[in-house]
Amino acid sequence: MTTQKVEQRYGFDNTSAEGSHQLQHLAEVLDPHSIDVLSTTGVEPGMHCLDIGPGAGTITHWLADQVGTDGHVTAVDINPVLAGGPNIEVLKQDIRQATFEPESLDLIHARLVLMHLPERQQVLAKLTSWLRPGGAIVLSEWDCTYMDLVRHSPTYTVQQLHETFQTTMVDILTKRGMSATWAVEAHTAMLHCALADVTTVSDSRFYHGGTGICLLHHSNSHQLEPELLAAGMTHGQLTQWREALQDPRLILSSYLMHTTIGRRAAAN
Ligand SMILES: C[S@@+](CC[C@H](N)C(=O)[O-])C[C@H]1O[C@@H](n2cnc3c(N)ncnc32)[C@H](O)[C@@H]1O
Repeated sequence: MTTQKVEQRYGFDNTSAEGSHQLQHLAEVLDPHSIDVLSTTGVEPGMHCLDIGPGAGTITHWLADQVGTDGHVTAVDINPVLAGGPNIEVLKQDIRQATFEPESLDLIHARLVLMHLPERQQVLAKLTSWLRPGGAIVLSEWDCTYMDLVRHSPTYTVQQLHETFQTTMVDILTKRGMSATWAVEAHTAMLHCALADVTTVSDSRFYHGGTGICLLHHSNSHQLEPELLAAGMTHGQLTQWREALQDPRLILSSYLMHTTIGRRAAAN
């Protein structure tokens, strides 16, 4: 693994026990959608792909299987925890400082990364310049403007705890540079980068307490506990919220994920 000095602004720690749980829950909730979209976009043997902020690395490894031994996947993460492989190179780098040859990549994938970077517009322009003519970029981001996500709550108190937790967490992450609106802006941003065939598809699923998105919220509530307490949530509220997240009577939608795909115009 190649290592570069990084300035860390991202708010979660992949190497902590909760960080590892968080990445596993993300993969479980989001991989079916990502694999559907990537399959439709077209991942062929021999391609060179870049996976930005791969987290658990499940999509990096899926891409590596598709491109085969003649292809190559580069995974860039400020805090990588995934294993490399014969056709996988893992770089410990900040994507904001990373450089690739112009027009050297067939596919760039980033899920839940650019929304955390204040420089997301400039990063998107840079990524575009790395795409070969005809190459595709696939960005998946959560729409944090849409928070009507409780499908069934065992009590009104739990419904209120959901609102308090979501509002406080989004506020904490926004102060660290996250954009709650980037998911709905990425489509236009790709058009501004002169990408062609820009398309956005959206995905959300329902989860009972003890599964999927509920386990992700549980993990996030632990990782962000000091900030949640500093922002006014109490130990009692966090305990009650975590109990509710394990209760199968609770049904939550995952955040709405918008995946935007754009292509560098093919050479004439
Ligand atoms: C929310 S996690 C998403 C992980 C994975 N893409 C997924 O959706 O399951 C964000 C990932 O991006 C990485 N990351 C955050 N800021 C980054 C940066 N500036 N450059 C590269 N990776 C970054 C984090 O370390 C983490 O692995």
